[in-house]
Parts: sequence; structure tokens; C-alpha cells
Amino acid sequence: MEQKPDYYNNLDKIYSKIWNLLNAGLQNRDSPFHIPVFICGQENESSGRIVVLRGIDENERKIWFHSDIRSKKIKILKSYPEANFLFYDKSEKIQLRIKGSVKINYQNDITKKSWKKTTHMSRQCYLGNYGPGSENSEPTSGLTEKIDNLKYTIEESEIGYKNFSVIETFISSIEWLFLAAKGHRRAKFDYKNKIIKKYWLIP
Ligand SMILES: Cc1cc2nc3c(=O)[nH]c(=O)nc-3n(C[C@H](O)[C@H](O)[C@H](O)COP(=O)(O)O)c2cc1C
Repeated sequence: MEQKPDYYNNLDKIYSKIWNLLNAGLQNRDSPFHIPVFICGQENESSGRIVVLRGIDENERKIWFHSDIRSKKIKILKSYPEANFLFYDKSEKIQLRIKGSVKINYQNDITKKSWKKTTHMSRQCYLGNYGPGSENSEPTSGLTEKIDNLKYTIEESEIGYKNFSVIETFISSIEWLFLAAKGHRRAKFDYKNKIIKKYWLIP
């Protein structure tokens, strides 16, 4: 018999479980919640891509990731700063859709703090001469051989800061779906100022 988790019929417990899963996604590289899909768009076009979850703040109800300021998504977000995250954990059988408004942080206190914490290796992404998505006549990583081989000092990597941004999403709602053979459960959490409206949906 399939065991029902303790949050199965309990909105408050589901809400705690959501933030526990997000925290696991942040702390554990092997957690499926570590790499959500981030979706943004304009009137008649939207696009999704995998990003690495870099931060969560339950009190401020925000989550964030890092990105190259030259990437296409930044242009999209500048014209329409609303986005969705999509998470799925197969073993937990839980899908989350997180919706919110986006703030692009660039060369401010938030980016300074985050950049300081980036590792030597992760700085590699910000050291290309051309932005991600630039067309090229040949197959390429877009990096010089030295950078490809991680043969740069931490001081040399500082130049990557000019391409670094922190994309925060201020959450307006979270939608939960739990798949169970004996009855799925779907719930929604809307943030309205200080209040969280918690309610069930038909799965
Ligand atoms: C496992 C994985 C992790 C990734 N992490 C990030 C990330 O944290 N930030 C990011 O901007 N792109 C990340 N990417 C690359 C994006 O999926 C995407 O290709 C890139 O950001 C360009 O997207 P855009 O042209 O829509 O801006 C990651 C890709 C993979 C496969």
C-alpha cells in the first residue's frame, strides 16, 4: 500500500514542505530542485531554460539565480519582468510552479556579495568575449584556451564581474502538485501583502 505523506491533506504542512524542498535544492547539487526551469516571455513568445538555484529567502518570499547580463533572457526581462520557475522532483512526485516579478541586479550590493561567493570554476561562465547566444561561424566554447582549461587566477577572473548579474524573483504565487496513485493533490499559495492565501485546486 502506498504511504500517504503527513502533508497529504494539510495546506500548512505542504507550505513547509515547499520551502524545505527549495532549501534542499539550494544546499544539495544532486537535488532535482537544484536546477529548475526558468520561463519568461513577451506578448507572443516565451522561452524556458535550466538555471541553478542560487538563493532563497522565505521571509522576503524571493528566490534567485545568476546569469550573464548579455544573455537573451535579460533583454526579455527588461521589457516584461514577470517569470515562472518550474520544479519537479521525481522521487517526491512533486511539481512546483513559482510565479513572480523579477529584479535584475547588476553592479550593486547584491551582485557584489554574490560575486565574492562564486567559485573559481563558476566564474568561467562570465569570461567569454562574446555573450551567450552570439552566432559563430565555427563550433566554439566562446572561451580562450587558457580560460577553457581553467588556467586563470582568481584575480584574472575579476574581469567577469562586468558580465555578472543576479536575477531575483519576488514570488506572487506557488502552485503545488503531488502525484499519488490513490488521489493526486493540488494546492495554491497566493501572497497578498503580509497574508498567504492557501487553498486546494482540483488536480
Ligand atoms: C545544468 C545547467 C545549469 C545552468 N545554469 C544556468 C544559470 O544558473 N544561469 C544561466 O543564466 N544559465 C544557466 N544555464 C544555461 C541556460 O540554460 C541557457 O542556455 C542560457 O542561460 C541562455 O539562455 P537565454 O539565451 O534564454 O538567456 C544552465 C544550463 C544547464 C544545462
